[in-house]
Amino acid sequence: MSFGVKQHFLKGNNNWFWWPLFPLYPYGSRNTTFSELVPDLVWSFEQLQGLYYVAVPIRMTVVKVPKGLMIINPLPPTKDLLDQLRILENDHGPVRTIVLPTASGLEHKISMPAMARTFRKAILWVCPGQWSFPLTLPLSWLGFPSSRTRILFADGLPHRTACKWISLGPIDIGLGRFQEVACFHKPSRALLVTDALVGISSKPPELFDLDPTPLLFHARDEGNQPLKDSPELRNKGWKRLVLFASFLKPSQLEIPSINTVLKNSFKPGLRNLKSHFGIYPFQWQKGWGLSVDQIMGSTKPLLQVAPVIERLVFPRAKNVFLRWLDEIKELEGMKLLVPAHFSAPIIFTKRECVSLRQKINFSRWGSYQDEPSFLRSLDQSLLKLGVVPNDPLNKFKD
Ligand SMILES: [Fe+2]
Repeated sequence: MSFGVKQHFLKGNNNWFWWPLFPLYPYGSRNTTFSELVPDLVWSFEQLQGLYYVAVPIRMTVVKVPKGLMIINPLPPTKDLLDQLRILENDHGPVRTIVLPTASGLEHKISMPAMARTFRKAILWVCPGQWSFPLTLPLSWLGFPSSRTRILFADGLPHRTACKWISLGPIDIGLGRFQEVACFHKPSRALLVTDALVGISSKPPELFDLDPTPLLFHARDEGNQPLKDSPELRNKGWKRLVLFASFLKPSQLEIPSINTVLKNSFKPGLRNLKSHFGIYPFQWQKGWGLSVDQIMGSTKPLLQVAPVIERLVFPRAKNVFLRWLDEIKELEGMKLLVPAHFSAPIIFTKRECVSLRQKINFSRWGSYQDEPSFLRSLDQSLLKLGVVPNDPLNKFKD
């Protein structure tokens, strides 16, 4: 968290009953941190989400709109999260709108139905082109109430006096489409994005203070090492989690043989669920920490296009990204960026936007010179198999 924004844990009931629908760590128990990002205008709720302890925070943003509140990218509505939302409603008016501004981000989609059931008068707005895997099902089958669900752009746009909506995409990614809609919230001068842009800091998020297990789990080098806690080990674990989240499989990471994994497993002191019985199927090579410096800011969050998005979604569609930034840089008075992952808020004025655009324009976009060999080979394999298209814009050309 930048800006010295004060975060606090929401205490009480963190149960999330519907977790088997989307079985990601931390499963049925979800702690939430809450912070006010811009006084009386923008608030952040964060929970952990991931697989096998590769868990990174995911953010729901709440903003003040005329006569009430708007939720963007809802999170599982645990009791403590709802209690805090009710406090905001008392001060600022009811939740009027819930927005899912991404077509593809399943992790943001899964909580929409539960949130819709909680706020029965709220209107739901979703990004066009929603798809589900393996089958594309109608929104009503996925639990979206059809009478109060609207499609962004096709059915209009919510709160146009307070918000400007800017679409990134659509582009065809083979299995479905990628599109996300950024919201410029004029009262706070904050640009709210989902997955496209992130700012990554070297400091582990506060969310890990309550349970640092995922950090400590990955701070080890072998499964037979016990989970020890120190600030240095937390930082080491955080760096590795960031590499996982950014590159799916960092190139300095080897997957050891099953014999090696089992040899180090089930050792005394590790025969418990918390340490996954010593099963640690990763082996980091020397120098693994160097690559993290390219994506992580040491004193402040490093602003960037999320590596997975650049390398897997947009490798052949750089211009779409540049055009989106062209539109964003013209937003009058833009000051902050609030993404759905990693640090927020981040300073983001026209200056930062222009320099990011320049960096992308002159970068070897999607050329995979350094770190992301796994993403490169994944993209190339999918391309060869015909799963992803060579011309991702073809489908959406007029
Ligand atoms: Fe996401």
